[in-house]
Amino acid sequence: MELLKERILKDGTIEEGNILKVDSFLNHQLDISLLNEIGKEFRRRFPEKIDKILTIETSGIGIAAIAAQYFNTPVVYARKIDSKNLEKDVYETKVYSYTKGKEYTVKVGKKYLNKEEKILVIDDFLANGKALEGLIDIISQAGASLVGAGIVIEKGFQEGGQDLRNKGIKIESLAIIESLSDGRVIFK
Ligand code: G4P
Ligand code: NA
Ligand code: NA
Repeated sequence: MELLKERILKDGTIEEGNILKVDSFLNHQLDISLLNEIGKEFRRRFPEKIDKILTIETSGIGIAAIAAQYFNTPVVYARKIDSKNLEKDVYETKVYSYTKGKEYTVKVGKKYLNKEEKILVIDDFLANGKALEGLIDIISQAGASLVGAGIVIEKGFQEGGQDLRNKGIKIESLAIIESLSDGRVIFK
């Protein structure tokens, strides 16, 4: 998606540890007109019947909520934080984060994912793919079916995307980064 790539080149910064910071439009301040274009592009790439969008807090929520307007579906987000008010009856799975060097538990209330629903997963980043694998596990526990995953930025030099595509999962990433070396963003 050219508009997104141009924006990454203009406003993205590279931090230590191969981290691409996109706080000014995607991860902290949100550019809603860009998110609308992202939502439309996801719809173009997933013309299939979709019953529900599943994402994960925090950064996935805004992206998924804007995209959902083009799918006319609800959005459910998996929770990472233990909240007193969270549903008791949940599907849960463990996700290991390389970036943070720790494992966390992800939960979705059982009543919000139902058997045979067609689910599109949306998230901001795909790196090692552990968050996405966790969401896929939750979808399968629910007996729902995964249509695919729409990702805003894939770090193509980490293996998550390739591993999941090799398992036959449809992954559509709007910008795929080949390298972040030497302070430059190179797209695939
Ligand atoms: P993985 O799920 O693909 O295995 O990724 P990993 O554990 O390595 O990443 C942990 C968190 O860092 C995720 O967000 C992920 O989206 C994000 N992330 C990974 N690489 C980058 C990057 O280069 N730039 C930015 N901005 N984020 C990156 P999170 O912290 O778990 O969620 P959230 O609360 O920020 O949404
Ligand atoms: Na993030
Ligand atoms: Na994320």
